[in-house]
Amino acid sequence: VTRMSDLDLRGKRVLIREDLNVPIENGRITSTQRLDAALPTLKAARDAGARVMVLSHLGRPKEGQFDAESSLAPVAKWLSDKLGQPVRLVADYLDGVDVAEGEVVVLENCRMNVGEGKDDDALSKKYAALCDIFVMDAFGTAHRAQASTHGVIKFAPIAAAGPLLSAELDALGKALEHPARPLLAIVAGSKVSTKLTLLENLIGKVDQLIVGGGIANTFIAAMGYSVGNSLYEPDLIPAAKKVIAEAKRRNADVPLPVDVIVAPEFSAHAPATVKPVDEVKDGELILDIGPETARRYAEMIAKAGTVVWNGPVGVFEFDAFGHGTETLARAVAASPAFSIAGGGDTLAAVDKYGIENEVSYISTGGGAFLEFLEGKELPAVAALRARAGK
Ligand code: 3PG
Repeated sequence: VTRMSDLDLRGKRVLIREDLNVPIENGRITSTQRLDAALPTLKAARDAGARVMVLSHLGRPKEGQFDAESSLAPVAKWLSDKLGQPVRLVADYLDGVDVAEGEVVVLENCRMNVGEGKDDDALSKKYAALCDIFVMDAFGTAHRAQASTHGVIKFAPIAAAGPLLSAELDALGKALEHPARPLLAIVAGSKVSTKLTLLENLIGKVDQLIVGGGIANTFIAAMGYSVGNSLYEPDLIPAAKKVIAEAKRRNADVPLPVDVIVAPEFSAHAPATVKPVDEVKDGELILDIGPETARRYAEMIAKAGTVVWNGPVGVFEFDAFGHGTETLARAVAASPAFSIAGGGDTLAAVDKYGIENEVSYISTGGGAFLEFLEGKELPAVAALRARAGK
C-alpha cells in the first residue's frame, strides 16, 4: 500500500478522509480523542505544502439535505485553534474547491451527500476529481464501504494510506499477527451475540481469554451456575460452550470468575455484595467481578506479552461496581506487555482511570476495531491494497 509519507505533497491538492466523528453536546465537543489522533496527519500535510481538504462524516444525517446538528463547524473551529490558522468550513465543494498551499479546509459532513452511504460511483468520482492525491486516514470508518472511504480510492489519481491508518494497522498487526506471548485478550460487554464472531476468531489466536460483563454471565451459565436475574443469553450457552471447548483443544485458558459482586437492582446506590460465583440467588444481578477474580486476572495481565482489551468487566459507570474494571485497567497500565485498547466503553474506562499514557496503543476505532478483531478485512484497506496491486 502506498503511504502518505512516501509522497511529495508540495502544491498538491490532497483530500484526506479522517474520522472526525466526535461526540458533540450543545455545540461543544465532549471528547477530542479522534481529533487529537488525526491532527498530526493534517499538520504533516500542511507542513509539506499541500492544499489540504479534510473530508469526514459526523453522526448519521439524512443524505440530500443540510442538518445543522451534524455540521462539522465545531470541528473546523477546533482545528483552526490547534493548527493556529483559519480553517474554513466549505459547504459546497463537489464541483471543486480553491485551496492555497499550506491551507487546510474542512469539507462539510460527507454523509449529507447523496450516494455516500451506497458507495455510489458518481459521487466517488466527484470526490476523486477534487484532488491529486487521496489519503485514507479514517481507521474508525475503514469498516464502511462508502463513497468517501472506499469508492473514491478506485478513482483518485493517487490513493494512499495516511499515518493514522497505518499506525492503527501496524499496532493491531503487532498485537494479533506477530504477538509477544502470552497473548491475552479481554473481551467484555453486554452480549455474546454481538461479539460471537470476535470470540470465535480470537480463541484461535490467544493464549488467554478473559470474558466479562453479560458475556461472562452467559459463560457462567454455561458452566451450570445460576446467574440469578443477571443479563445473559440462554440461547448462546451452546456457543459459549464451543468457545470453551476450542480453548481446551488449543490449550488456551478461559478463566471464569471465582467470585462476583451482586446487587438487588441495577442502580448506582444498590448495596454491593461479594459472593462466590456458585452462590448467586434468584433476584440478584451480577454487576462486577469479585476481588479475588480481579486479583487473579491482574496477575495474568502482569505476565502477558500482549494484551488486547475490548470492554469493561463490570458496570464501572457506578463506582460501587467499578472495582474489577479499575483493577484490570491498572494492571494493563502497569504490565510490561504491549497493550492495545479500543471501543467506546473501553476508552471511557481508560479515561476514567487516567491510564491513557500507560496503554501502548489506543485505537480510534469502535466498529472498525471490532471488525479487525473478528478477522475481517476492512473494505477501505482492501481497496488500498487493490490499488497497490496486492
Ligand atoms: C464510529 O463512530 O464507529 C465511526 O465513526 C463509524 O460511524 P458509523 O457507525 O456511523 O458508520
